[in-house]
Amino acid sequence: MWTASVAIVVVLQLHSVHVMTATVPACGLPGNVVLEAQNLLRDLGPAFPVRSCLPYNGNATFPRRAFTNGTQCRQALRALHESLQGAEQVFEDYDVALGEGGLAWDRHMLDDFQNLQNRLLREGGCVSTTTPPPDPGMSAYFGNVSALLQQQESATCGWSVLRRDVLWVLNTALHRHHSCFSW
Ligand SMILES: *[C@@H]1O[C@H](CO)[C@@H](O)[C@H](O)[C@H]1NC(C)=O
Ligand SMILES: *[C@@H]1O[C@H](CO)[C@@H](O)[C@H](O)[C@H]1NC(C)=O
Ligand SMILES: *[C@@H]1O[C@H](CO)[C@@H](O)[C@H](O)[C@H]1NC(C)=O
Repeated sequence: MWTASVAIVVVLQLHSVHVMTATVPACGLPGNVVLEAQNLLRDLGPAFPVRSCLPYNGNATFPRRAFTNGTQCRQALRALHESLQGAEQVFEDYDVALGEGGLAWDRHMLDDFQNLQNRLLREGGCVSTTTPPPDPGMSAYFGNVSALLQQQESATCGWSVLRRDVLWVLNTALHRHHSCFSW
């Protein structure tokens, strides 16, 4: 009698654990959304180098070693997530000035890119909890981009640098870590 009820409790507990794990989505990022985001960011404005921005080329250096060939999937996805999160924070903290005197970027494409970026951050939130924290160079990088955005004369270049580097991140992740995404 005693063993039977214990067995029932154990079975019920195992069952609820199973139900709980079944509702947690698999941790991954949809490759087609990453690809679409990359294409939008590439096409929304003129290619780097923007001539007038060359003096600021050395002011913010993206830590590329986070995406070297030997990087494991979990680390690469985490680095991608961290890059998009840093970029989203910059978009939240500073206004993008489009049009005359500002950036020649297509507003609709920028909006579409940001929607995909938000979607990737939401769906990929689980990757940021699975691996060790990313390269400390990442926060230094976004700090340096912010320094460019804070000065009126370098703000446009700060955005161009950010776009160039996020584009590099998306492109590199897709090429070097293609199989890490869900397709
Ligand atoms: C950030 O700027 C500082 C000061 O200019 C520089 O020494 C450092 O290398 C830069 N770091 C990154 C990651 O851009
Ligand atoms: C990484 O792999 C790509 C494709 O296999 C290759 O073209 C590239 O040279 C490699 N880069 C490094 C730093 O090993
Ligand atoms: C860019 O880097 C140069 C050289 O290191 C420095 O003098 C300048 O203050 C930096 N500009 C900004 C806006 O961070």
